[in-house]
Amino acid sequence: MRIVITAGPTREFLDPVRFISNRSSGRMGYALAIEARERGHEVVLISGPVALPAPVGVRRVPVVSAADLLAAVKAHVPNGDALVMAAAVADWRPAARHPVKLKKNGLARELTLEPTPDILMEIRSLKGPRLYVGFAAETHDLVPEARRKLAAKGLDLIVANDVSRPEAGFDVETNQVTLVTPDGVARELPLMSKRAVAARIVEWIETHRPAGALAGGRAGDALPTLAPDGRLARQLRFICEIDKLKSVNRRTLLMDGSRYENDAEHSWHLAVMALLLAEHANGKTPDIGRVVRMVLVHDLVEIDAGDTYCYDEAAHHDKEDRERRAAERLFAMLPEDQAREFRALWEEFEARETPEAKFAAALDRLQPLMHNYRTGGVVWREHGVRSGKVSDRNRHVGDGSNSLWAFAEALIKDAVEKKFLDP
Ligand code: PMT
Repeated sequence: MRIVITAGPTREFLDPVRFISNRSSGRMGYALAIEARERGHEVVLISGPVALPAPVGVRRVPVVSAADLLAAVKAHVPNGDALVMAAAVADWRPAARHPVKLKKNGLARELTLEPTPDILMEIRSLKGPRLYVGFAAETHDLVPEARRKLAAKGLDLIVANDVSRPEAGFDVETNQVTLVTPDGVARELPLMSKRAVAARIVEWIETHRPAGALAGGRAGDALPTLAPDGRLARQLRFICEIDKLKSVNRRTLLMDGSRYENDAEHSWHLAVMALLLAEHANGKTPDIGRVVRMVLVHDLVEIDAGDTYCYDEAAHHDKEDRERRAAERLFAMLPEDQAREFRALWEEFEARETPEAKFAAALDRLQPLMHNYRTGGVVWREHGVRSGKVSDRNRHVGDGSNSLWAFAEALIKDAVEKKFLDP
C-alpha cells in the first residue's frame, strides 16, 4: 500500500522569529512511518519541524505551517491508499505575518488570531475508497470527543490519544490510545511504546483496506497477509522486499555490454562462482555453503543504501553508516532468529576475517574485473580509473585466493596492454 503519514507540530509565524506551535515531537508519526515501511509499504512522511532523522527508505516532505501541510497533503493523498494524520496542527495562527522582526514595543498587547485550515475537513472530497485515519488528542472525555471528531471529519478510524497522562501523548516514547471506529466500537490499548502503537494502527489499515484501494496501489500488496501465521507472513514480506534488489543497478556492464548489471544478478553470479571455484581458496577448502549464503546476503542492504561504486572515494565516506542503517531496517523484517542469522552473515562478509568471508570477498572483486575486461574497459575509462587503483582496490582477492589474485593481476596487466585500462 502507499501510505501518507503526517507527523510533528506546525509553526504559525507572527514575524520571522516568533511563532505559535505545540509540544509534538513527531515521535508518533515517525514510528508509524518506520513501522509501515518495515512492513513493506511505500511511505510519504509529511513532517513538521522536528529533531528526528529521516527514516531510511521513507520519502520525507518537510513542512512548517498548517497551510504548507494542507498543500502537501493535497498533493500526496491522491496517490495514496491511506492517510494517517498524526500531526498536531496548530489550530490558530496570527492574522498577519510581519516580514521583519517586530520590536518589543511594536508588538500589539493583544494578538489577533484566525483559525488555520482544518486539513481533514478540507480533503474530505478527495477521500474516495482510501482510508482516512485521524488522531484525537484529548485530556478528558476521550472517547466521546473522539467519536465526535470521527463523524465530523468522515474518518474510518480515529486514534483517541489520552494526553493527560505524563507517559502518553506529546514528547514521550510511550503512548496510550483507544481505537475508535464508525460502528461505535472503542478498543482500548494498554500503555505501550509508540512503535507498538504504530504496529497496531498499521495492522488495522492492512486488514481494512477496501478492495477499491488496490487499484490505486500495487495489486499484489496483500500477498503476505494471505499467510496463515505471522512467521511466514514476515518471511513473505521480506521476499517481496528483496525483489527491489533487481532494480539496483551496478556500474558494471553485462559481459555482452548490452546494459548495466543489477545487484541481484551480481549476487547470483558470485554464488555460482563460489560453487565452481572453491578448490582455489587459500588453505583448506572453506565451508562453501556458508560462502554462498554470505554472497547472497551481502548486497541486500543496497536496496536502501544503493550501490557504492568501488572506485568512488567520496561515496565511501558514509557508506558504512548508510549500509548499517539499511541492515537494521531490512533484517528486522525477518523473524528474530533469521534476522540474527542474516545480520551475522552480512557482518561476517563485511569484516573479511574468516576464511569464508575472505573467499567471498575475493569473488566479489574478481567478478567485476572480469566484466570490465570483457567489455573492453568502457566503465574504467568512463570513470578515469587507472591500473594502480584497480590493483590497490582489488589486492585483497589474494587474502581469499592466491591463485585467483595471480589471475586478476594477469588480467589487469593484459587490460593495460590492450588499452582497456590506463596505466
Ligand atoms: O509527536 P509526538 O510528541 O509523538 O506526540 C504525538 C501526538 C500526541 C501529537 C499524536 O499522538 C496526536 O495525538 N496527534 C494529533 C494531535 C491533534 O492535533 O489532535 P486534534 O484532536 O486537535 O485533531 C484531530 C485530528 O484532526 C488529528 O488527526 C489532526 O491531525 C487533525 N487536524 C487538526 C487540526 C487541523 N487544523 N487540521 C487537522 O486535520
